[in-house]
Formats: sequence, C-alpha cells, structure tokens
Amino acid sequence: MIGQPARRFLLLDPIQARFLDTQPPPLPPMPMKAIVFDRFGEPADVLTVRDVPIPEPGPGQVRIRMIASPINPSDLLVTRGRYGVLPTLPATPGFEGVGIVEKLGPGLNPLGRLVLGKRVAVINGDGGNWAEYVVIPSRQARPVPADLSDDDAATIFVNPATVLAMVRHTLRVPRGSWVLQSAAGSELGRMIIRLARHDGFRTLNVVRRPEARDELLALGADRVICSSDGPIDQQVHAFLGSEPVRYALDPVGGETGSQLFRALAPDGRLLVYGSLSNQPLQIESRALIAGNRVLQGFWLGHWMRSRNIPQSLSLFAEIARLIRAGILRTRVGSRFPLDRIAEAARLAETSGRPGKVLLTMNPSPHVNPSPTSPIF
Ligand SMILES: NC(=O)c1ccc[n+]([C@@H]2O[C@H](COP(=O)([O-])OP(=O)(O)OC[C@H]3O[C@@H](n4cnc5c(N)ncnc54)[C@H](OP(=O)(O)O)[C@@H]3O)[C@@H](O)[C@H]2O)c1
Repeated sequence: MIGQPARRFLLLDPIQARFLDTQPPPLPPMPMKAIVFDRFGEPADVLTVRDVPIPEPGPGQVRIRMIASPINPSDLLVTRGRYGVLPTLPATPGFEGVGIVEKLGPGLNPLGRLVLGKRVAVINGDGGNWAEYVVIPSRQARPVPADLSDDDAATIFVNPATVLAMVRHTLRVPRGSWVLQSAAGSELGRMIIRLARHDGFRTLNVVRRPEARDELLALGADRVICSSDGPIDQQVHAFLGSEPVRYALDPVGGETGSQLFRALAPDGRLLVYGSLSNQPLQIESRALIAGNRVLQGFWLGHWMRSRNIPQSLSLFAEIARLIRAGILRTRVGSRFPLDRIAEAARLAETSGRPGKVLLTMNPSPHVNPSPTSPIF
C-alpha cells in the first residue's frame, strides 16, 4: 500500500499494523433474494426470483427483514402495467407485509429509533416488499401489537383500511341502510359483510359463483345475488321492491359495475374501487342526470394522504381492534417461498381459491397467538 500515511499506524502494535495494512477492500454487499420484473406482463411470465444486494437504509429510513407479504390484486395490476402509479423497471412488487426492523439509517429522531428490533407492518407505497429485506421510511414501519398474528400483521393495511375509509368515512353508511356490493366473496367483501353486522347496516352481495352463496350467508350477508341468475338491477328490485339502495361498492367494472349503478336509488352513490374485469363501465347519461346519482372513484393511496398523523394512528388502532374481533381479519389460504412465485401468482388469481396467498421470506421469531375470535 505505497503512499499510505505512516501516521495512521503510530498507535498500533506491529501485528495490528500489518493486519490493517493488508486488509482487503470492503466486501460487496451481501446478496438477498427478491422478486424482480424487467417488463410489464403476465405475472407468472415476468416475475423472477433473483439475487440482489441487501439494501442499506438512507437518512430517515429503516431496513426490515421481511417475514411475509400477501399477493394482492394491486400487486398484480402493477406487474401488468395497469396500476395508477407504476414503478421504474426493473422493480419489485409488494405494497404490504410484516417484518422485523433490523437496521436504522442515519438522522432518525428518538421516536424513529424506537422501532429497532420491533415487528412492524411494512406499508410500502412504492412497492418492493417481495424481498428478503426492504428499506422504507421509518414512519411507514408501524409496530404491531403482540397479540396479532404474523398473518394479521401482513394483511393489516390495504383491505382493512380501504373498508373503513369507504364505508365509515367516504359513504358514511347509516345504520339500517342497504349496501350493494360486487365481488362480495373477496377478502375485502367479506370484511364488509362482517362490518355490516357490527355497524348495523345491511348487505346485498353479488357473486359470480353460486357456490359462494352459502358461505356468505353464514358470514352474515343479508342477501346474496348471483350475477349469472340475471341482471343485477332486476334481481335487486325484485328483492327490495320500493326500498332504496343508496350505497354501492364495485371493484369489478364492466357489465357488473354498470348493473350495480342501474340498481341505485335516484339519490344513490356508487364507489368504484377496483377493475377486476378490466372492462369499462357503461353508464346511461340519463341515469346520472335524472335524480342525483353519484359515480365516484376511491383509492386508498389518495385517501391516506388526506389523513394527519393522529388520524392515521387512530385508524390503525381501530383496525387492530376490529381484527381482534374477527371483522377485518384476512383468511390466509396458502404460503409460498419466493422461488415459487409463478405458482403463487397463478393461484392468487384462481377463481374460488380460499383465502389470500402469502409469500414467506424469513422465519418469524413471533409465536402466532390463536385468533381471539373465529376466522371465517
Ligand atoms: N381502491 C383501493 O384503494 C383498493 C384497496 C384495496 C383493495 N382494492 C380492490 O378490492 C378488490 C378486492 O380485493 P381483495 O384483496 O379482497 O381480493 P381477493 O380476495 O383476491 O378476491 C378477489 C375476488 O374478486 C372476484 N373476481 C375476480 N375477478 C372477477 C370478475 N372478473 N368478475 C367478478 N368477480 C371477480 C373473485 O371471485 P371468485 O371468488 O368467484 O373467484 C374473488 O372473490 C380488488 O379489486 C382490489 O384491487 C382496492
């Protein structure tokens, strides 16, 4: 090492000095496994598992050792290039999950440093959770109460927050009124059925598979309609007669969403929050003009930006309470390691699959408690 300043070794003994003098250059970052895609397309075709460097947390950030992350419809929309906000490629999907904070970046205040070593919900608005390690801003790592299981923690945010934001904050559904919803057998649709029992409103639920009917009635659905039994608006009117439907929720679009809109009372409101059919809505202009019907989009990302810190903390506390009560709990149907991503992505979109598909990354030190109330 010609040219090294001799002054550096003055306080070291000769053995230490020799060791330092021959120290190899810093090791390259350790690799980890991550799901990566280079082009938008069918998830099973474009998602690959790769060795990439473990990321280092920057200022205000933390590094999390991931335990699990669900495959949600929004992750697959991103992969297909059909989501509202798209990443620069190559990219890693995954908006939510659970993990342990194992490293802090520089510049965190004492509050930010408190999360070190904690099990946290990993709320990652930029995506990237389908990896063994992920770096996010410290404020997006939300410590999870010890009595919630890893499955609860991995699925604590996207669907539960959307349910409360749509039903309680946006539509403000009053007790006793009817809510008409499509894709009612989805994990989110089941949460709405259980919340209706809790909050005192009634649900008219549309499914595409007749087999789902009994399951949803057992959950507390007031009525289940199968889209293959005829136009939804006609089925609704045949059942309710002159009783109005003022609130509807649609994540499907196409013919299903359009029929939901037709079923609305003149002062009714349809909240569109998904595009599962990938088909456009067809709305008759006169149906909007006559009466006072409202067609409105909902996106959790936008809605959360309107929340301040105390509001978002109280939202999390309420979600935890309702998960404990079984109302906002997600059923987990299967688990896959990252290297079986193609299989996992296919299963996530298989009709009638029971419960969410979870990707698992690292073992959890958390002992999963038994659910405090039955899982439906
Ligand atoms: N806007 C937001 O901020 C926001 C936030 C969270 C979730 N979401 C949306 O909420 C929806 C539900 O999410 P999730 O995680 O609960 O889903 P999930 O558990 O994966 O369930 C998907 C459900 O959709 C049904 N489905 C799929 N394609 C359909 C189609 N073409 N026509 C009718 N039904 C169809 C399936 O029916 P089968 O049972 O018959 O297979 C299944 O019950 C998704 O669209 C998601 O993007 C939106």
